[in-house]
Amino acid sequence: MTALQVPHHIAIVMDGNGRWANKRFLPRIAGHKQGVESLKRCAKACDARGVRVLTVFAFSSENWKRPTEEVSGLMDLFAFALSREVEQLQADGVQLRFIGERQGLSARVSRSIEQAEVATAGNTRLILNVCFNYGGRWDIVQAAQKLAERGLSVTEAHLSQAMALAHVPDPDLVIRTGDEQRISNFLLWQSAYSEFFFTDALWPDFDEAALDLAIHSFSQRERRFGLTSGQLDSQAASAQAQ
Ligand code: FPP
Repeated sequence: MTALQVPHHIAIVMDGNGRWANKRFLPRIAGHKQGVESLKRCAKACDARGVRVLTVFAFSSENWKRPTEEVSGLMDLFAFALSREVEQLQADGVQLRFIGERQGLSARVSRSIEQAEVATAGNTRLILNVCFNYGGRWDIVQAAQKLAERGLSVTEAHLSQAMALAHVPDPDLVIRTGDEQRISNFLLWQSAYSEFFFTDALWPDFDEAALDLAIHSFSQRERRFGLTSGQLDSQAASAQAQ
């Protein structure tokens, strides 16, 4: 039996909070609140399984177009959850990073982001990247602008270094919950060679067993990065011979 391959970096589109709430005749924000609980459970489970980087899509550049009540509810929830959870994240050795456009966020949200980042900066167990006011196209554009400002040539290496997730390797596995099969402007650059896993579980219902299914599926994939199976076999054989 071959050993389970655990992804180093998992990225998740946490979809289905609204439908989870609708099914229970609750306001959509109740689904987002439950989504925060699901994220906490998922981060713990990832850590326990040896995943070292977790990146989640919490608020997209396009989410501002949602009803005002939902947007302000999400902003309040975000600021509240950050201040409430920072101590526990600290105890669990989680380093929080916020990925996205900071301009346009309220002073309260910006403050809670800065405080959480500073408080957890020294933690090394699990890096939790929270994509907030984020879009994959925004990221590519801001990276290109950095190159122009610095007078750097446009190369893949320079662009990669200027992207918002330059501090971590690309995601090995991208999971999308909520029975949708699209990328929705998430990690467009970084997911070039990621494996994808789609599940109909709504995000608040995404538990340890659902995570294990995704990891198991990942573990069975052959990642070829553009090579052939034969080339991979000879690489493995020569690595073994050394
Ligand atoms: C998508 O479900 C979910 C969101 C747009 C928000 C996700 C946010 C959280 C889980 C909270 C994160 C909080 C912190 C502190 C990181 P949807 O609303 O599109 O669901 P639907 O497709 O069922 O309507």
